[in-house]
Amino acid sequence: MATEAPGDAPLLLAFPDEAALAQALARELGATLALIHEHRFPDGELKLRLPPALPERVTLLRGLQDPNHKLVALLLAARTARTLGARRLDLVSPYLAYMRQDMAFHPGEAVSQRIVAGFLGELFDRVVTIDPHLHRINSLDEVMPGSRGIALGAAPLLGCWIAAQWPGDAKPLLVGPDEEAGQWVQQAGAAGGLAGIVCTKTRRGDRDVTVELPGHTLRGRAVVLIDDLASTGHTLVQAARALFAQGAASVDAAVVHALFRGDALQQLRAAGIGRVWSTDAVAHETNVISVAPLLARALRQA
Ligand code: R5P
Repeated sequence: MATEAPGDAPLLLAFPDEAALAQALARELGATLALIHEHRFPDGELKLRLPPALPERVTLLRGLQDPNHKLVALLLAARTARTLGARRLDLVSPYLAYMRQDMAFHPGEAVSQRIVAGFLGELFDRVVTIDPHLHRINSLDEVMPGSRGIALGAAPLLGCWIAAQWPGDAKPLLVGPDEEAGQWVQQAGAAGGLAGIVCTKTRRGDRDVTVELPGHTLRGRAVVLIDDLASTGHTLVQAARALFAQGAASVDAAVVHALFRGDALQQLRAAGIGRVWSTDAVAHETNVISVAPLLARALRQA
């Protein structure tokens, strides 16, 4: 792995904690990979060190799970990359944080989606991401200036993976735990030839949600819950309980972004969820599908 960038070859920059996805992406792109050195001072401040000379075209990989210090790191890295020679600077952020706060639900609240997307759009020429949580808007263009955002979809990859786990005729039913998940149920279903339904979720707090199923016979059915992300896991847990109460024979789960904070995965197991699958957009023990080819295709076209 290179630690210094040569003349004008395309370069992928990444942070050491995302080295696995970075290596896969660099292989797909035929790019040189260099890791950014990050030092965190005792008071929490960051110091970054990039290769001292950069080519004209640089792509930076940084997923925004656990986002707050990473947003500062992106500010430092992007501004430094420009001074070191990068003219075209793209960000690949497989998981784009802060997309769920897409309106002021109460007077005075920050609309984080707009602010964070705008911030990244000012730092980078292109921002490539996967299944950002777009609910009340249709496209990143609405929050990122100058059509800089490229939103890719990994739900079809999940759909194909799920379909392949049931090689016979009896296929599982896809279930989205809330209305936002309708888009992922639809895309995964189309790719895998699977039927799906969507539940209704009421959220009263971070760990306080209820999920109601549409009237649907589930007796003896194998079900796969599908969502863009799991954080505390409560959404999937409540959905699984409702599915078992309605007679589901088995419940598995597939998510694009495996955030799984704290004991979330154990909570899923305790609720009877069998297999849990995710993409490597966020590195996690449940990863079974690589998004590197999807990202590389988009970067080649960007
Ligand atoms: C929100 O609508 C998202 O799609 C997820 O359903 C939600 O954020 C998952 O969060 P948690 O795992 O904490 O319930």
